[in-house]
Amino acid sequence: MCGIVAAASSNNIVPVLVEGLKRLEYRGYDSAGLAVIGSAGIERVRSVGRVAELESESAGTQAITGIAHTRWATHGIPSERNAHPHVSGSIAVVHNGIIENYETLRRELTAQGYVFTSDTDTESIAHLIQATLKTEPDLFKAVRIACQRLVGAYAIAVIDHTQPGKVIVAREGSPLLLGVSEPGKSTGNYAASDASALLQVTRNMVYLENGDIAELTASKVKITRLDGSPVERAIHVSELSAAAVELGNYQHYMQKEIFEQPEALANTLEIVGGSKSIQPGIFGAEAANLLADVDSILILACGTSSHSGYTARYWLEALAGVPCNVEIASEYRYRTSVANPRQLIVAISQSGETADTLAALRHAKALGQSKTLAICNVPESAIVRECTLRFITRAGPEIGVASTKAFTTQLAALFVLTLVMAKLRGKLSAEQEASYINELRHLPVAVNKVLSLENEIKTWAQRFADKHHALFLGRGMYYPIAMEGALKLKEISYIHAEAYPAGELKHGPLALVDADMPVISIAPNDRLLDKLKSNLKEVQARGGELYVFADQDSEIADSEGVHLLRLPEHYGQLSPILHVIPLQLLSYHVALVKGTDVDKPRNLAKSVTVE
Ligand code: F6R
Repeated sequence: MCGIVAAASSNNIVPVLVEGLKRLEYRGYDSAGLAVIGSAGIERVRSVGRVAELESESAGTQAITGIAHTRWATHGIPSERNAHPHVSGSIAVVHNGIIENYETLRRELTAQGYVFTSDTDTESIAHLIQATLKTEPDLFKAVRIACQRLVGAYAIAVIDHTQPGKVIVAREGSPLLLGVSEPGKSTGNYAASDASALLQVTRNMVYLENGDIAELTASKVKITRLDGSPVERAIHVSELSAAAVELGNYQHYMQKEIFEQPEALANTLEIVGGSKSIQPGIFGAEAANLLADVDSILILACGTSSHSGYTARYWLEALAGVPCNVEIASEYRYRTSVANPRQLIVAISQSGETADTLAALRHAKALGQSKTLAICNVPESAIVRECTLRFITRAGPEIGVASTKAFTTQLAALFVLTLVMAKLRGKLSAEQEASYINELRHLPVAVNKVLSLENEIKTWAQRFADKHHALFLGRGMYYPIAMEGALKLKEISYIHAEAYPAGELKHGPLALVDADMPVISIAPNDRLLDKLKSNLKEVQARGGELYVFADQDSEIADSEGVHLLRLPEHYGQLSPILHVIPLQLLSYHVALVKGTDVDKPRNLAKSVTVE
């Protein structure tokens, strides 16, 4: 989604703005721009395409105050005229989010004589602030008053060339944080959509709350609420290392993140691996009391995060005996549902800022469902802050748009939740507990072994490049893994892919199978293997080409039309975590063969902060 960087400093901030935008590229964007306070007024550069182009176009520009933006189109096509910043008289504005009442504002402001030059909702913010400055000349106060008229979600940054040296930022619903001066290192104050953009200048981050507005100058930061009342916000020293957001020796972030999974899992499970027993306290101080009274679980999430939820449902019901449902957040939030105050709401999100998941969580709370748990990769995110319990996956920053390490660490967290629930419900013997802890401890090693299949998968990938469709099959807890495999393939290689529970094939999708439709099947050595083998025979009989990911000891052989790859070991209940890895590698290598933009697939954004 869109990214914001803003800076007020005593040094030239143009390189900081450009570097910040580069760090936000992973969020997905189609155009970029920046505006600075120059000697003759606002100087603005905008370009459709990569930040690198903006960098060359802004070479030679120097200023100490400025704002910058990467845009992911919502209102109006990607074009230079729609790119941010938007200017009205002396001011320039960048904005993330969606202003829902922009048409009303646009009509009003047009009637007052303001001329709109873009199709964006953002331009109405620029004119609204300019109009407010007529009666309230102080920029901070004018932005504060203007924000009170905005309906929707926003994070904004504003500069005014008649009031140089300051940037005003405000947030309601879209992420925004401040990076404040670090003694001896930086001489300025900054704002951005996420911390990775500001690590170049400071580690001292201040997370703004919804309804906060701040004024930044090179030496001072002032924060108030939109009604003008002053607030203090704590400084957090970011633990993110700049190296964690570097590509290093890898060709793409997605590749790096696939290979970081052993480490990400080890970090996420550190809290478990060192102990002999699993305690509810892992989820927060109130967890023991809160979880003991839970009678069912409702998981809310979107995309890949929902697939971890669907997988966990099998664990939670089978091992902990707790009824579990999973709902796509964008559906749940608008559905009339029956509230159950004893139900645990689990919001799963890599970013913790996904608008639909956040809204679904709020909807559940508004219905009186107060038992809430966040499983999230970003500790300071809105979803974590709005839940009573939390489990922070320690995957490290995930930059590639296609989620990989966030998914496997979510699965690990959900397995830990399953064990806690099983224990609380008297369904986990001490022996089983010790054995599962042991398996979790060795999971990173098992994942590492699966990663060694990469070369064989590369060979398979060549065969997919000219295909337009693919079917993914799985049964039981591997069906959501098949869904995840299909999502990965479609989002980065643009091959249409569908996942089906293998038993469902003969109820319709079998009609699609022919030599041009590769069928990828997950065939672990479990009690459903024989059933799956019959399903695969159905595909073979229709001339379909099968690509099977089996276990070492799955009784299945390669033959004409059946390509077989065996995972090094079967890992019992935790095997879904291993089986998704070859699917991630397959989609990555198919995308490489097809030459798509792996880390920034077309039309997609990393953190979906709009509805
Ligand atoms: C797919 C992908 C998306 C996200 C979804 C939810 O690879 O990354 O489907 O999983 O947008 O995002 P989070 O987990 O940040 O809520």
